[in-house]
Amino acid sequence: MTLPVFADVDTGVDDAMALVYLLASADADLVGIASTAGNVDVHQVCRNNLGLMELCRVDVPVSKGAEQPLRTPLRTAEDTHGPQGLGYATLPATDRQPTSHDSAEAWVRAAHAHPGELVAIAVGPLTNLALALRREPALPRLLRRLVIMGGAFDYRGNTTPVAEWNVSVDPEAASEVFNSWNKAWEGEAPKHLPIVLGLNITEDIAMTPALLARLATEAGSTSTPMSEHDERGRRSTASNPLIAVLEDAMRFYFEFHFDDGEGYLAHLHDPLAAAVALDPDLVRCRAAAMDVELTGTLTRGMTIADWSNRWGREPNALIGVGVDPQVFFDRFITRVGAFARRLGSHS
Ligand code: BDR
Ligand code: CA
Repeated sequence: MTLPVFADVDTGVDDAMALVYLLASADADLVGIASTAGNVDVHQVCRNNLGLMELCRVDVPVSKGAEQPLRTPLRTAEDTHGPQGLGYATLPATDRQPTSHDSAEAWVRAAHAHPGELVAIAVGPLTNLALALRREPALPRLLRRLVIMGGAFDYRGNTTPVAEWNVSVDPEAASEVFNSWNKAWEGEAPKHLPIVLGLNITEDIAMTPALLARLATEAGSTSTPMSEHDERGRRSTASNPLIAVLEDAMRFYFEFHFDDGEGYLAHLHDPLAAAVALDPDLVRCRAAAMDVELTGTLTRGMTIADWSNRWGREPNALIGVGVDPQVFFDRFITRVGAFARRLGSHS
């Protein structure tokens, strides 16, 4: 069965990997991409998404979202993802343009075009999803499934000591999304809850130079040996054009994680969300009421799961608590490797 899929991204190295995974998956039909400001500004996110579609030779509509979070000035993460958001990678030039409607409208249109069928991922700040929910409060009922990469549950943050990046950039939007979900069912029990993957689970998905070399082999490509001893910014020599872009992007991401004390590896947060969107059995989840801290002087942007139902609220999320990274990487490498091989054979 092929699922229509909509992706809201702030591309971003791992966002790009998530989009490539979706394009590589025969069980997914990527019907639209919402660009959201986050890792880089929204114009650059659009350029990255359009350039990626050019590289992958697919025509998926890309929309541009709000330039700023709902109520707080935008922060970007060039230190993590590189000056343009894709590490050291350069994407092909393209004359492709974003849609004339914005990202919030793209969410609403995609949901109405595939009522009850659309599977969605939101792997950037939730600004545009919150705006879409304001325009169409029934949006949750129109979706088949939503997977959000955001938050950190009983786990340290990666932006503040307690807050994860996507939630931290636009905490009000995240709060609106989590608090509006159950209202869409107007008193009835929700038919499905968003699957929320926080750092507590996405940081189990660690890409390494060895796994990247396996991906190149699967693609029939040469690969570039990589280690923390390399000169910074050494460019890929891979023979396959997609593998070369992924290697150049990942090298920057490896260097960032290394400098952050994590080792010469990189967390593939957003590709896990993409894989779970197509197959929720990849993760173990627990239902809980969750919310976002908006006013704490030290804890703004923190996500809190009420595991013991102290608040007495209905669950509004299925929170990821367990994953087998090997199952994820086997699938990622098989799918993206075959896709890169097909692209390479036509270049
Ligand atoms: C999230 O933040 C971004 O930098 C990544 O793309 C991912 O979506 C992880 O905290
Ligand atoms: Ca992201």
